[in-house]
Amino acid sequence: MKIIAINGSPRKNGNTGILLNKALDGAASNGAETEMIHLYDLNYKGCKSCFACKLKNGNSYGQCAINDEISPILKKIKEVNAIIWGTPIYLGSITGEIKSFMERLIFPYLTYDENYSSLFGKRISVGLIYTFGVNEQRLEQTRWKEFLENNEFLLGRYFGKTESIFVTDTYQFDDYSKYVSAAFNASEKLKRRKEVFPEDCKKAFELGKRLVRIR
Ligand SMILES: Cc1cc2nc3c(=O)[nH]c(=O)nc-3n(C[C@H](O)[C@H](O)[C@H](O)COP(=O)(O)O)c2cc1C
Repeated sequence: MKIIAINGSPRKNGNTGILLNKALDGAASNGAETEMIHLYDLNYKGCKSCFACKLKNGNSYGQCAINDEISPILKKIKEVNAIIWGTPIYLGSITGEIKSFMERLIFPYLTYDENYSSLFGKRISVGLIYTFGVNEQRLEQTRWKEFLENNEFLLGRYFGKTESIFVTDTYQFDDYSKYVSAAFNASEKLKRRKEVFPEDCKKAFELGKRLVRIR
């Protein structure tokens, strides 16, 4: 049983990275082999629309023809049993890096047939961890969650059953007093970090554990 985590945050030990590590700990506690990929360590771009992955009888049919630092990871994902994605929310959406990675991973498996069927060839378990600076109340005033449903839809369709967790009101700065940040109440943020974030970590641990459960 192997699970791979894809960290779409530039901060390896930020909120997203911590939660992904907890999810991997959960998977390891169920006997899985784990691996973490930090996308910001790698040089790559999104899909270039070359369509080599769609070319009839082409050498790269169903796979990405671009050769760069994510090519080995795209290949590796064919061998895993579970994948867990983590991304901070930037301007209401996933980070550019994770979006570019998804384009490169998903588009080659998306067949332009009548059903847009999947060429991935097997079903794996998929988890998604989103981290938000805003609190739940603010989040409910936006349409971000609605927009994010498309990730679950795509991953569910092309890879397998997908489960998401939403972690809100994250601790963004080491010291709030050093930054212009009147939008936040620093002491409430700290309280939340101490009291609620450990619960979020437990949820991530349990998610990781579930993703590698033998079905
Ligand atoms: C460029 C940028 C844009 C952001 N935009 C949003 C946003 O639209 N909504 C939100 O809730 N938080 C936003 N945040 C806050 C982060 O999503 C949040 O603090 C997240 O947990 C950070 O993850 P990290 O600790 O893994 O870096 C933004 C942060 C940055 C740096």
